[in-house]
Amino acid sequence: MTSKSISLLTTVAELRHYLAQFYIQLNASGPKFRRNNAFTKIGFVPTMGALHLGHLSLIQRARYENRLVIVSIFVNPLQFGPAEDFQQYPRTLTADARVCEQAGVDVIFAPSAQELFPMIALNGPVTQVVPSSQLTERLCGQSRPAHFQGVATIVAKLFNLVQPQRAYFGRKDAQQLAIIQRLVADLNFPVEVVPCPIVREVSGLAYSSRNAYLTSAQSQQATVLYRSLQQAKRAFYSGCRDRTTLITTVEQELATTPDIKPEYIELVDPTMLTPLVEVEDTGLLAIAASVGSTRLIDNTLLHNRKPIVAIDGPAGAGKSTVTRNVAKALGLLYLDTGAMYRAVTWLVLQSGVSVSDQDAVAELVEQCQIELLPTSDANTPPRVVVNGQDVTAKIRSLEVTAQVSAVAAQPAVRWALVKQQQRYGSTGGIAVEGRDIGTHVFPDAELKIFLTASVGERARRRQQELVTQSIATISLEQLEQDIEQRDRQDSSRSIAPLRKALDAVEVNTDSLSIAEVTAQIVTLYHQQFS
Ligand code: PAF
Repeated sequence: MTSKSISLLTTVAELRHYLAQFYIQLNASGPKFRRNNAFTKIGFVPTMGALHLGHLSLIQRARYENRLVIVSIFVNPLQFGPAEDFQQYPRTLTADARVCEQAGVDVIFAPSAQELFPMIALNGPVTQVVPSSQLTERLCGQSRPAHFQGVATIVAKLFNLVQPQRAYFGRKDAQQLAIIQRLVADLNFPVEVVPCPIVREVSGLAYSSRNAYLTSAQSQQATVLYRSLQQAKRAFYSGCRDRTTLITTVEQELATTPDIKPEYIELVDPTMLTPLVEVEDTGLLAIAASVGSTRLIDNTLLHNRKPIVAIDGPAGAGKSTVTRNVAKALGLLYLDTGAMYRAVTWLVLQSGVSVSDQDAVAELVEQCQIELLPTSDANTPPRVVVNGQDVTAKIRSLEVTAQVSAVAAQPAVRWALVKQQQRYGSTGGIAVEGRDIGTHVFPDAELKIFLTASVGERARRRQQELVTQSIATISLEQLEQDIEQRDRQDSSRSIAPLRKALDAVEVNTDSLSIAEVTAQIVTLYHQQFS
């Protein structure tokens, strides 16, 4: 069951048999597996198929956090109205299975409608789950009256069948997400609902299976949805918090593309879905609009908090110094995630555990306490304390540098540290650097920077650093090779690879001083937030 071969199951009996075998094997694999949080869970991604990059991001997140990943593919008749596109909805099982296989999914559950709802064909009674009308009658519920009852019914049924510990839903369907979170809380499903960020094409258009209905001209027109949300976001960050101005900003931008027919533009509380007059804490700004006969939805969350600045990029691009300076200049907390991964690597090396013994590493990271303690001098990086021991200097050794990628790539390590980082960031006001901060750790970060530099320049900087620290000189050629290898490793790993976020601003630092790079980022920040 740990092999990468995928199982395509189409009946309830097959699914139940598979899960029974899974639990037998899990119990036989000993207490280590049962104890290790990141490896004992079933992660579930419910879909209607026609998988796109949005779905893939849910699958990747589930793969990253769970031992077993199950994707359901079922075009649910209960959630389509009589005049809607149930018959026409794209069904692409062969291609979907390929996507799932490549993403390391263990099981596809793709039952027929006859298998799940035999009564429908007989026009017989079907028991349904009725979510609160307070959540269903607004927003999309106005034009799709029975839709969310159908969604709640199939999701409850799938939760009962799959019995996952975690289930992954995209934020694009914000109303669906709120309804499912309520369903899980009210009916005590033992499932953690994991909301995942909206994934967009380069144009800004959010991925959706219904994008398949758009002509290329319509796809282009549809990009105005994202632009209008971005306009409102800019207004929000320059101080506007009130409903009328935010909604009017969206309306005006949408009006620049007359082929887009808005159905609603709303500002609501993201959990209760009640209209907001003003954003006090967090607001959900949501749009539904048609282009031709295709109905599209999109939204953005507006957080009333100090911004998060996320700085990603390859090793040696100057991220940590720049991020520290940016934090200092803007009065933000500097969260050095690289130091956290180094701290775990140091702990692994000094405890005598082999870096490749993933179970032992997982146990160590589960139990370790990492603290980043700001120093009184803003020019000195925070002190790094692991399990009470100050390791600030030790984590910069060549030994740690050589092993940190291998440790950081382990799912249990990343899972544990990402949770710690997200706790630090929950109230905003941080500058944070890494490789997957803008794409994975803080996908809602208000300002994302991708800091890069050529391999030659990065090798030259590393050599200078080693000379300053009086560490044996290594040839430039060797350093270039090491950097190239690390880039390859960082970008190709399946878990949280180094990637530039779609909405990141790229800054090449080759011919720039640290001060110039810092000034560029500080200017970008002020342009957006003051
Ligand atoms: O979001 C979807 O694709 C569907 O509404 C879901 C959650 C799979 C239920 O059919």
